[in-house]
Amino acid sequence: MRIEELTEAQRQYYYIEQCHQWVAGREKALGRPLTAAVITFGCQMNARDSEKLTGILEKIGYHMVDSESADFVIYNTCTVRENANMRVYGRLGHMKQVKRKNPDMFIALCGCMMQEPEVVEKLKKSYRHVDLIFGTHNIFKFAELIYRRIHEEKMVIDIWKDTDQIVEDLPNDRKYPFKTGINIMFGCNNFCSYCIVPYVRGRERSRQPEDILREIESVVADGVVEVMLLGQNVNSYGKNLEEPLSFAELLRKICRIDGLLRVRFMTSHPKDLSDELIQVMAEETKICRHLHLPLQSGSTEILDKMNRRYTKESYLRLVDKLRAACPDISITTDIIVGFPGETEDDFLETMDVVRKVRYDSAYTFIYSKRTGTPAAVMENQVPETVVKDRFNRLLEEVQTIAADVCSRFEGSIQDVLVEEVNHQDPELVTGRMSSNIVVHFKGDASLIGKIVPVKLTSCRNFYYIGEPVQA
Ligand code: 5AD
Ligand code: SF4
Repeated sequence: MRIEELTEAQRQYYYIEQCHQWVAGREKALGRPLTAAVITFGCQMNARDSEKLTGILEKIGYHMVDSESADFVIYNTCTVRENANMRVYGRLGHMKQVKRKNPDMFIALCGCMMQEPEVVEKLKKSYRHVDLIFGTHNIFKFAELIYRRIHEEKMVIDIWKDTDQIVEDLPNDRKYPFKTGINIMFGCNNFCSYCIVPYVRGRERSRQPEDILREIESVVADGVVEVMLLGQNVNSYGKNLEEPLSFAELLRKICRIDGLLRVRFMTSHPKDLSDELIQVMAEETKICRHLHLPLQSGSTEILDKMNRRYTKESYLRLVDKLRAACPDISITTDIIVGFPGETEDDFLETMDVVRKVRYDSAYTFIYSKRTGTPAAVMENQVPETVVKDRFNRLLEEVQTIAADVCSRFEGSIQDVLVEEVNHQDPELVTGRMSSNIVVHFKGDASLIGKIVPVKLTSCRNFYYIGEPVQA
C-alpha cells in the first residue's frame, strides 16, 4: 500500500517504525540506551496528552526517565495563567547548558502555550536550542515530526490553528494501571472573557460514543477500574454529533461496562448541568460522589462580565438540587480573584457563596491577564495589593471550611481505591474515596488497584487515617 492510502493512525505507525530504527542505530553507535522525559504542566487534559506522548516515545524505543538530562525532553505546556509561561521559559533557559553537555539531545515543546503566535516567535528568536515545536491539534503527528527533525536537522515547527480531526487508536502509556483519563471531547466554545482556552484548544468536538465505549472497554480489559472522563465542558458533550447524545446518556452507557467500578468526570460548566445529569448521578452507583463545579465568582455582575451565563442565585439553586439528589456529594470549585472591575462588594458575594456551599476544596486563582481575551482590555483592572489581600482572605475561608467539611465522614466505613504505597511510611497505603478524599491505612503493595472498605478513624484536616475492615 502507498503511504497516501493509509489511515492517519497507520501513517503514524509507519513513522514510529522509522524512528525506532533510527533510535536502535543510535543506541548501537553510543553503546547505551537512549532516554526520554515528558514534563507536564497544567490540567488533566495535558496529563492525558502526556500519556499519549509517552506511549509514542516508548514505541519508538526510548527508555522513559524522570530527568531533564535525558536524550529527548518534551515540555507539554499550559498557558492558562501567565506564570505557567514564565516557568517554561525558565526551564528552557536552564536547558541551554544541559544541551551544551549533550549536543545530540532533542528538546521539544507542545501544548497550549505553543498555540500563541508570540510565543513561537520568541522561541524562534531567543531559544534556538529547541528542536521541535507543535501545538494542541496535531499531537497525533508526534512520531512524524520527530522523523522530520531527525532528517531535516533543523528546528521543526508545526502548529495548526484548529482542526476537526480526531485520530483514534494511537499508542499511549497509562501512568497508573488501574485508573486513567479518557478524552470524550476536545476544545471549548464558551469564551469566558478571561480565558485563553478556546483560542488555544479550538472549537468543541465530541468523540463518537462508540469510540469512547470501545476505548473504555479495552482499558478495563487491561485492568483499569476507574475512568475520569475529560473535556473542558463535559456537560455539553454530544451536542454537535451527527446523532446527538447527551452527556447523561453517555454516562449511562459507560456505567453498563462490566468490570468498570468507578466513573468520574471533569469539568462541568454550571450553565449546562442538566436535571437529567443530576438524576443519572443519583441513580448510577458507579458515578463517584464528587462534582467539580467551577464558580469563578459569586457576584452576578462579575459573572456577566466573565460571560459565564449563570447567576449567583442559579448557581446556589443548582447546588441545592445536587445535594437533594446526592446528599453526601463532595463539591469542589475554581475561583478567580481580581477580575477587572471586581469591587469589595463583588468579592464579598464570592465569600458568601463559599460559606453557603461549603466546598470540599477550592482552587483559588489570582486573575491573570491573557492577551487576546476580552477581559485583557477591560477597564478597572484591580491593583495587585487589593487582589492579594482578597486572595488571602478567600484562601483562609476556603481552608477553614474544607477542614470542617472533610471531617463529616469520621467514624464511617468507606470504599477506598488504593493507589500507592505511602511515600513517607511504607507500612501504609494511600487511596481515594468516591468523594476523592485521600485515605491512608495499613496495607501493602498487593492492594494497589483494589477497592477496600476502610473505617475512617481520624480526620487530619484534608485527609483521613483509617483501618481496613475485614470483609
Ligand atoms: N486568570 C486566572 N485564572 C484563570 N483560569 C482560567 N483563566 C484564567 C485567568 N486568565 C482558571 C479558571 C478555570 C481554571 C482551570 O483556571 O478558574 O476554571
Ligand atoms: Fe475557559 Fe470557560 Fe472554556 Fe472553561 S468553559 S475552558 S473557563 S472558556
